[in-house]
Amino acid sequence: PSAGRLRGKHVLVTAGPTHEPIDPVRYIANRSSGKQGFAIAGALAALGARVTLVAGPVTLPTPAGVDRVDVETARAMAAAVDSALPADAAVMVAAVADWRVSDAAGQKIKKEENSPALALVENPDILAGLAGSAQRPRLVVGFAAETEQVIEHAIAKRTRKGADWIVANDVSGDVMGGDANTIHLVTATGVESWEKLAKPDVARRLAERIADAL
Ligand code: C5P
Repeated sequence: PSAGRLRGKHVLVTAGPTHEPIDPVRYIANRSSGKQGFAIAGALAALGARVTLVAGPVTLPTPAGVDRVDVETARAMAAAVDSALPADAAVMVAAVADWRVSDAAGQKIKKEENSPALALVENPDILAGLAGSAQRPRLVVGFAAETEQVIEHAIAKRTRKGADWIVANDVSGDVMGGDANTIHLVTATGVESWEKLAKPDVARRLAERIADAL
């Protein structure tokens, strides 16, 4: 692998969770450390790509050579992705909250006799939106965290979302916040199962595959 394989290419990466406010002090979120997405952004930059990393709220250092845009909510992440286009490839690693509170309170909700009921509305699907957009990057890669029927779900997700590849992540063990991942790369032509790898090694292998494809 040569260092400049992605020179001149712009790659967009989303990573981390999103936080959806309930009121100014509370939120709902998905569980995500951001480690895998940040490692992918760093590995792409190491191959010479210009990388825009749209990051949800995480406490991780920005990888060398990466342009980082911090966001809180799914809607802000969708807007930041849109602003970063055009891109040659996009790798959507973020664990986006599927719902937001439809009418977040402007003031802290007080404890009363009755617990508040939260009305939820669906968030935009950033991956599906990008895959269907007029500015669709040539290579669109999604992630799928699954605990069962990992490959079957990823194959279905690839078609449903309009992605070129789905990186299926078997999270039945202790992957969440952990340091290793078991990956199946689902493409139009088949499924490639990788041995269990440390997250930086997953990132390097995926970055090389993206360089092959571009
Ligand atoms: O549907 P599911 O959340 O399992 O899909 C996961 C993939 O879709 C990931 O690539 C994730 O970043 C992306 N996604 C997204 N916007 C959403 C939900 C998921 O970009 N609202």
